[in-house]
Amino acid sequence: MVNFKEEISKLIAEQIQDLTAEEILSMIEVPQDAKMGDYAFPCFKLAKTLRKAPPLIARGIADAIRGNAMFEKVEQVNAYVNMFISREEFVGDVVSAVLTEKEEYGKSNVGGGKTVIVEYSSPNIAKPFHIGHIRSTVIGNSINKIYSALGYNVIRINHLGDYGTQFGKMICAYRHWGNKEDVINEPIKTLLSYYTKFHEEAESHPELNDEAREIFTKLEHGEPEEVELWQWFRDESLKEFSRVYKMLGIEFDSYNGESFYSDKMPRFVKELEEKGLLEESQGAHVVNLEKYGLGVALITKSDGSTLYITRDIAAAVYRKETYDFYKNIYVVASQQNLHFQQWIQILELMGYEWARDCVHVPFGLVSLEDGTMSTRHGRVVFLEDVLNRAVEQTREIIKEKGVATDNIDETAKQVGIGAVIFNELSNNRIKDYVFSWDKVLDFNGETGPYVQYTYARCASVLRNAGAEAVAKAEQADAVKASYLTGESAFQLARLLYKLPEVIREAGEKYEPSIVTRHIVDIAQSFNRFYHDEHILVDNEEEKTAKLALVLSAKTAIRNGLALLGMDAPERM
Ligand code: ARG
Repeated sequence: MVNFKEEISKLIAEQIQDLTAEEILSMIEVPQDAKMGDYAFPCFKLAKTLRKAPPLIARGIADAIRGNAMFEKVEQVNAYVNMFISREEFVGDVVSAVLTEKEEYGKSNVGGGKTVIVEYSSPNIAKPFHIGHIRSTVIGNSINKIYSALGYNVIRINHLGDYGTQFGKMICAYRHWGNKEDVINEPIKTLLSYYTKFHEEAESHPELNDEAREIFTKLEHGEPEEVELWQWFRDESLKEFSRVYKMLGIEFDSYNGESFYSDKMPRFVKELEEKGLLEESQGAHVVNLEKYGLGVALITKSDGSTLYITRDIAAAVYRKETYDFYKNIYVVASQQNLHFQQWIQILELMGYEWARDCVHVPFGLVSLEDGTMSTRHGRVVFLEDVLNRAVEQTREIIKEKGVATDNIDETAKQVGIGAVIFNELSNNRIKDYVFSWDKVLDFNGETGPYVQYTYARCASVLRNAGAEAVAKAEQADAVKASYLTGESAFQLARLLYKLPEVIREAGEKYEPSIVTRHIVDIAQSFNRFYHDEHILVDNEEEKTAKLALVLSAKTAIRNGLALLGMDAPERM
């Protein structure tokens, strides 16, 4: 595809000796208002060196470049050179690029195969995988897909919370009041109830706390009976998590969580000590970060056991040594900002020069309209239930609307689960938001169902055109772009053209919502085109050209949805 911005920079650079093409490139703007052209070049900064009024400079440049075939029109307006790209050339170029690249359209190789770790989801064993966890899971999965599309080699890690004193309590409770069948049938709900029961009982029987502590020590020392129970709890919990991952179409390369690092800790405690970073405080060991405004980080408790942050230090070094990452990305709630700031600061103080290649990607809270999110009141909403309900409601809507599908179960799943994912990725990730069923499943709003519906509409137009006509439209070089210069076709092509840049920006900012918003724009723009133009016209050349644009829009939407981790149904 022609990089118009770059071509324009070269052209202008020939006119201005004082600036390089790169400098000019960074000055070129894309005007908000289409009346000001597709690209604009401001001349204010040149006044000093050229000793001329900016409008005069702009006039000179406009006159000199106007003849280039790339432009339909070049105007000077005040200090600006406003450039209008030739629609025919532009649309033809974009359509041909999408048709040629297909699934690859939008991808690039800026990553050059460098390894990036994306850590996401990371739920706690024996704790509910609730709607709050969906954020890390879905945002992280999308960041993983975006980085893969940018040519990075992505390692997907689920840093399970599978270690800590709570396992002593759980094993203790299981031994007193537990029952094997219950754990197998409903692992998480059952294990959670043990945990709650333990706390209730421990209030009147404080000796239970000692018992639990002893059990945890045994677990730490690898006593077979305790390890076996712990392993079983972990396996059963993972089975339950896996069900949700399967529904969401999410995979990991590694489930190495906190327990994986439990035996790797002494090296780091020693290292911190040798580097003079460790201080003793009432028998415990801490790193004092007050100088950096980050308080004090607890590294080992007085009984010698390690903490969350200690395991994160070990994990970071392990990942560097194992994968030699270019970037190590953590998709974790903003409530843990302080934890990650402390942790990076400690890695830096330890002298690891790659510390700043570790990135915490935070996100805000999600709550439900009726307030049912509150764990404090014991009313946890399970993600699996949310997904099932989304599928159920979608099935109802599809039936009501009389939507044609060959497989209502499959479509309801694609659309229902897609709706939850899309909703999750619609807002700037750092914003808190309220989960609303009506908004999530609104087929006319800026939602997943709306985009998928548009995709299915593209598919339906192509079906109606017939295989032969579509095959013709797929031949990029046969497309006569002169039929695609109408306003809505051109605006659609502009959005398709921008997709690769949008993906790059989303990667740089760790912000999938940039992609989400862009595919909503593409869908809206396609629907405008569909409304404005008659596609299946008698004129063969015109029909082929229009079908090629439909095909391009369909491809771009599918590629975009794939980056969010969503399916695109052919019929709905
Ligand atoms: N298990 C933790 C939780 O649910 C999240 C883990 C985040 N990752 C990390 N490397 N600390 O709160």
